[in-house]
Amino acid sequence: MPSYDIRCTDILLGLKSLKSSSIDLTITSPPYNIGKEYEKKLPIDDYIGWCVEWISEIYRVTKPTGSFWLNLGYFEVPNSGRAVPITYFLWNRSRFYFLQEIVWHYGAGVATKGTFSPRNEKWIWFVKDPKSYVFNLDSVRDPDVKYPNQKKNGKLKCNPLGKNPGDVWIIPKVTSGFRRSSKERTTHPAQFPIKVIERIIRASSNENDLILDPFVGSGSTLVAAYLNNRNSLGFEIKKDYFLLAKSRMHQVENTPRELSLF
Ligand SMILES: C[S@@+](CC[C@H](N)C(=O)[O-])C[C@H]1O[C@@H](n2cnc3c(N)ncnc32)[C@H](O)[C@@H]1O
Repeated sequence: MPSYDIRCTDILLGLKSLKSSSIDLTITSPPYNIGKEYEKKLPIDDYIGWCVEWISEIYRVTKPTGSFWLNLGYFEVPNSGRAVPITYFLWNRSRFYFLQEIVWHYGAGVATKGTFSPRNEKWIWFVKDPKSYVFNLDSVRDPDVKYPNQKKNGKLKCNPLGKNPGDVWIIPKVTSGFRRSSKERTTHPAQFPIKVIERIIRASSNENDLILDPFVGSGSTLVAAYLNNRNSLGFEIKKDYFLLAKSRMHQVENTPRELSLF
């Protein structure tokens, strides 16, 4: 059985307690500095400075073949921009190599007036070494191929496992509300859908690897890691969410796979 560990602590304290080169893959989404109930809004330079500090610790704890997947949204830059991608401020602020940006199209959302309604967030895929990193494409191929039997010189043109899923991922977000609430919904306001995290975990790690989410929230990364036979570690500063993540993991551990929500 995979192991997991959730600690109720601040990200920097948690990261500083870890050995260098001990983590295979980090997947996380920080507070976006937009005034959610789990964050304190900071001046932009202070917020970016804080992000640079914890990203540099993630670099230190990542193994040489490891990856760091960072999910970011948008924030307002006073007098300059209304919804500026946070990735523009962070893509080159560490020793990580920027390998790729993925657009996550999450389906329905807030309708805006005066601009197009936002429907995507970004994932940045960083690696330590662009010449040597884990990438298991066959584990995440998309079987939805238009002409699966098309041949060239007698050979199938398409990989029988499916196509490369590409860099735009259409995966619905976790919804709430009467009759439209996702089955996996918890009380956390910014929960990852397990499907997104599963794709990252399968592509960027191997079984028995150690996955970290230092802003663990409701524990989605740890749930996906457990279901995919990876060990995991999470940090969460808020006691309520720490307890939520623990109880979610307890439930996953004690639910037979065939009855699992995911
Ligand atoms: C965007 S949410 C993550 C949600 C998570 N991905 C999920 O699926 O539930 C960010 C989380 O980071 C936590 N957090 C905020 N500041 C923190 C800090 N300094 N150290 C650790 N956790 C922190 C918040 O309480 C919140 O639960």
